Amino acid sequence: METDNKHFKRYTVTTALPYANGPIHIGHLAGVYIPADTYVRYLRMKGEDVMFVGGSDEHGVPITIKAEKEGCTPQDIVDRYHKIIKDSFEELGISFDVYSRTSSKTHAETASSFFKKLYNDGKFVEKESDQFFDPERNKFLSDRYIIGTCPKCGNDHAYGDQCEKCGSSLSPDELINPHSALSGASLVKKKTKHWYLPLDQYESWLKEWILEGHKEWKPNVYGQVKSWIDGGLQPRAVTRDLDWGVPVPLENAEGKVLYVWFDAPIGYISNTVEYCRQNGTDWEKWWKDEDTKLVHFIGKDNIVFHCIIFPCMLKAYGDGFVLPDNVPANEFLNLENDKISTSRNWAVWLHEYLEELPGKQDVLRYVLTANAPETKDNNFTWKDYQDRNNNELLAIFGNFVNRTLVLTHKFYDGVVPAPGVFNEKDANAVAEMNAYPDIIAKLIENYKFREALSELMNLARLGNRYLTDNEPWKQIKTDPERVKTVMYLSLQIVAKLAILSEPFLPFSAKKLQKMLSFDVEGWDQAATTELLPVGHIVRIPELLFEKVEDAVVETQIKKLEDARKQNELNAWKPADIKSTVSFDDFAKVDIRVGTVLECVKVPKADKLLQFLIDDGMSKRTIVSGIAKFYPDPQQLVGKQVCFIANFEPRKLKGVVSEGMILSAEDKDGKLVLLSPRDIVTPGCSVG
Ligand code: 2FM
Ligand code: ZN
Repeated sequence: METDNKHFKRYTVTTALPYANGPIHIGHLAGVYIPADTYVRYLRMKGEDVMFVGGSDEHGVPITIKAEKEGCTPQDIVDRYHKIIKDSFEELGISFDVYSRTSSKTHAETASSFFKKLYNDGKFVEKESDQFFDPERNKFLSDRYIIGTCPKCGNDHAYGDQCEKCGSSLSPDELINPHSALSGASLVKKKTKHWYLPLDQYESWLKEWILEGHKEWKPNVYGQVKSWIDGGLQPRAVTRDLDWGVPVPLENAEGKVLYVWFDAPIGYISNTVEYCRQNGTDWEKWWKDEDTKLVHFIGKDNIVFHCIIFPCMLKAYGDGFVLPDNVPANEFLNLENDKISTSRNWAVWLHEYLEELPGKQDVLRYVLTANAPETKDNNFTWKDYQDRNNNELLAIFGNFVNRTLVLTHKFYDGVVPAPGVFNEKDANAVAEMNAYPDIIAKLIENYKFREALSELMNLARLGNRYLTDNEPWKQIKTDPERVKTVMYLSLQIVAKLAILSEPFLPFSAKKLQKMLSFDVEGWDQAATTELLPVGHIVRIPELLFEKVEDAVVETQIKKLEDARKQNELNAWKPADIKSTVSFDDFAKVDIRVGTVLECVKVPKADKLLQFLIDDGMSKRTIVSGIAKFYPDPQQLVGKQVCFIANFEPRKLKGVVSEGMILSAEDKDGKLVLLSPRDIVTPGCSVG
């Protein structure tokens, strides 16, 4: 296939390996997996040879941190999430040829031998440096495990790489009073040896290869790479002192592993190796043949690793490794106008979506492509999801298909009629519809999936317009011969949609192909006018899409609101201590214990309860705003409460309240009455 004037024989398409420390959410899908899957499905339909590589990234500190938190091993964590991630991708129809994991044996072998070759070829620089060491745990700590006071905002829980309160990025040396997040111990500095990839030595090569040679890359990618290069590249350590990862394959390197960002991209290679070993084929052609086009689908936070570090690793290795032809990185997707966040549970999780909205894979694929963050950050809202489903998929695509097939059954018992001579409008429609395969193809080849999808919808719009303009339901009485042409051409447009929608909406495309009893041969077939020959029989149509009701949107929004509330609770901290009071001032407040004699709701006041209290001397009435938390006031009778006995009397809803009953406000706003732990004599003082 021709792109950028070069003919490639095959494609290796990779998707960022997600960390196996959490499930997949819509941000991952919109940024990486859906565009990549659309691309490879298209390539396969073009008859191209494709290796679509995915897998879980199972090393790195985020995974060990999660394991520490949950009191289990890193392997437990990655086993759990690898399965969730893999299953959910499969159910969404992400059509990987291989989805493996970086904790596999093949990966350890591949990554080790990659490192070893670079080491033996003298491609690394060896350096000793002072690093923070936890004397209690007897280990070096990575930045995330170092906690201290932020020099910028005073937050005493800042991490060695970042302060989450003020957002500053930090280095552990900047922290005041750095200590270990694992043991709490004060840290000491100790010498340690690591291996560095001298990126600075590759600067001029990178300039030539990317800044001169790949001006066609997306502006966001090109711009980020340029600013990294212009800022000057530094040697990067490719090893870490950690006990989770691929061990450094050298003598005297105990306790050291490959840095996760060194081994993860090698995962693309090891997963290819694993696939090829299992299938008895040659892996090298996917990575070491200049006729192979390598494309990395990633999010914008991964640009430097895929455009600078991994290419430098491949270049350093030599041996014919190909470099990426393109890295179509996307921006980020927000959710309901807020940043997607795993820790705040502000996300739509794929595995939950699939469970809660079964059979709606294509709706999600559609919405996330139509709204893809290709050129800027974008926003997903459930209202937009509903609108796009109801007003686009259903009202435009589904409606056209359904009208055409219903009329074909009504007029011709499902048989494709023989057309008459095309008039000018028909000829225009034919020219227009036959142009779409090429228009959409060009956009996909240039990674413009949003626009490509919108062109697909334009083809459905063309079909709707053609039907509406020709009104076959009316003309059938006046000019039945003419209707044959109209229905013939409408059916051909439906068949074209059944082909061209496949990369974007694979489940619906298959359903439609079945309704048409139509076997798709490939993408290029769609440029032909007659896809369903005269006399071919189509089946009775089923609905391709169904309406998304308000209740669905409301349930999903409620779920997010609950997550937000939960976050607020999690973020709860006790109120600041008020300014100091003297003993004399405190002694002015007369707190007593009393026994509840009666307790009733105050009429016409939702919040108020009226207590009659035995205060040891007499009975007093106190009104308290806690009705919401004690829905059955009768149950309080006989209980003891604490109250301020010398509180100035106040009139509340017509009742004079002679004191104030004390309660504690919990973090969720719930009020809880205070009472002595054991029964005491009514009227006794509290102090
Ligand atoms: O950012 C991430 O989620 C990384 N796990 C991506 C790795 S991509 C590749 F290099 F494997
Ligand atoms: Zn700070």
